[in-house]
Amino acid sequence: MKNLKGKHFITTEDWAKDEIDHLLDLSFDLKEKKKKGEVSDLLKNQTLFMLFFEQSTRTRNSMGCGITQFGGNSHDLTPDKVQISHGETAKDTAIVLSRMGHAIACRCCFYNKGNQYLNELAQWSTVPVMSLQDDLYHPMQCMADVMVLQEKFGKNLKGLKMTISWAYAESHAKPISVPLEQMLFFTRFGMNVTIAHPKEFPLLPAMINKANANAKESGGSLRFVNDMDEGFKGAQVVIPKNWGGFANFNKWEDSQTQWAEMKENLSKYKSWICDERRMKLAGPDVKYMHALPADRGKEVTDAVIDNEKWSIIYDEAENRLHTAKAVMAATMGGM
Ligand code: CP
Repeated sequence: MKNLKGKHFITTEDWAKDEIDHLLDLSFDLKEKKKKGEVSDLLKNQTLFMLFFEQSTRTRNSMGCGITQFGGNSHDLTPDKVQISHGETAKDTAIVLSRMGHAIACRCCFYNKGNQYLNELAQWSTVPVMSLQDDLYHPMQCMADVMVLQEKFGKNLKGLKMTISWAYAESHAKPISVPLEQMLFFTRFGMNVTIAHPKEFPLLPAMINKANANAKESGGSLRFVNDMDEGFKGAQVVIPKNWGGFANFNKWEDSQTQWAEMKENLSKYKSWICDERRMKLAGPDVKYMHALPADRGKEVTDAVIDNEKWSIIYDEAENRLHTAKAVMAATMGGM
């Protein structure tokens, strides 16, 4: 395996399986070291610029805590704090920040723009660029998801019956990047992945093709159903989570129509909630996951999300720290 120092982390798709396995091994090791109270100055005096176009609890704080625990520091930037608000380009931002610090991390989820923006930063940056989520990918989340799965089911996830389901929410149109990258990533581990969604909320065909290729290579499988109950039947893990309806990118230009259409479609599927009845359709030891934040009472009932036998959401969220540290240790520290 090549040294990973300087490698961008924009999607797990750009990383070979042995590189991903290395990141996961590092994550387990770093979690163990933290538990023992071992400290490290791997990234002493290094600066991570974090640029958030959207809100964040887990991503912001896992990155910020992570670099602090390595002896470095982070700058928590939003467009209003920097000249992006006056139109400064990704090129100029990337060149200037990479002459000063040691890595640039960015969350930009604008549909049809976010991933493009991240790639433009990476094109001009001389330091590693990390995605904190864009319109297509959320690699940091997926690393933590696989880490918690390996903790609960063992390192070999081949054959694991995983269901990613659309669920109803009202708080905001949640990014489609989470189920998209989960679909791509989980199929690389040989899991048997089921995706349940209303027909109005499809995933992107090009990504489905890629996930099918990933499943073929790993010995896993991928299937789609348009019924939440059907999706839950026999699952060992369920991830019921909302995603917005901008999957048809061709219509991007007409965003007002898209919003109206999505709101109308949303209201048809209030019954897509993860409740106890649905959990009982799944396997006897089924686990419930969610990237968080969850819309309680809409995506999931309290009786499910707070059920300690089913819910592994807090272990999943904690692992955001250990996996974020592994990505920084590899791309900034050459570990
Ligand atoms: N799951 C996740 O990315 O959480 P935040 O939006 O709080 O960062």
